Amino acid sequence: MPTPTRWMILDKYPFELLPGEPTQVTVGDKSYYQYLNERPNETGKNVQAVIWLLRNFPKGLRIMEPFGGCGVFSIALQNELKPSSHHIVELDGGCVAQLKYCLRNYPSRILILHGDAHDYLGHGPADIFVCDFPVFTMTRLLRGEWATEMSRMATQKPKAILITDGSSYLYHFVHKTLLKYCPEITSDRESYAHAMGRLLYWLYGYSVTGCGYHGTCFYLRAEPVPPGEIEFKRFPAGSGPAGLRKVQ
Ligand SMILES: C[S@@+](CC[C@H](N)C(=O)[O-])C[C@H]1O[C@@H](n2cnc3c(N)ncnc32)[C@H](O)[C@@H]1O
Repeated sequence: MPTPTRWMILDKYPFELLPGEPTQVTVGDKSYYQYLNERPNETGKNVQAVIWLLRNFPKGLRIMEPFGGCGVFSIALQNELKPSSHHIVELDGGCVAQLKYCLRNYPSRILILHGDAHDYLGHGPADIFVCDFPVFTMTRLLRGEWATEMSRMATQKPKAILITDGSSYLYHFVHKTLLKYCPEITSDRESYAHAMGRLLYWLYGYSVTGCGYHGTCFYLRAEPVPPGEIEFKRFPAGSGPAGLRKVQ
């Protein structure tokens, strides 16, 4: 049995990571294994953003996580939300083995599927969809990427859809290219979240009510309400280890 490395999620939940081999996945040149080992601080900020966005939701909901990765979010969601069911999909076989390993002592209501989220996402009911998309932006959505799956999710009438959006990366350039779609988008990242909220409401009847962000990603919480106030939280440089820290 290969020796796992030991980590702490949110400073309270132990996490074990098997030594995984980087493999070629369709959407990128390396698996999430390698990414996590190279950039744990990013994942640390990401998991804090997700748990902050869900902090006021009750326990016992049905969670669907279509991009399981190595299981950092899954462990946090299990502990913080105690879901009544938790369905996880992942394309990369190495990550699936890791997910099964790190979640082995959690309740049996977890279903881990080795497959493509395009085939699963939105076909079954869930109260919360936690979509840590590998690559998702407003531009890609307007091109139709993940649009069918977004539509299917909305028809399940979840309480919330969480969306990882990579437009925060190099935002000082990105926002200029978005002006052609939405003249209200400015150099202020908050304007992007408001614009996404209006777009998602127009397309699916869900608008953005919360946004956690850092220099690489937006984490958007979409709920079935008209566009209005959005609560924001920035996760600055240096805040990653509070979300994910290697202990051994
Ligand atoms: C950003 S990572 C998720 C990380 C995860 N939140 C965690 O805590 O470890 C995205 C994952 O989506 C997987 N993926 C990419 N395309 C996919 C698809 N079409 N269906 C399912 N999984 C996919 C990648 O292999 C990668 O592990």
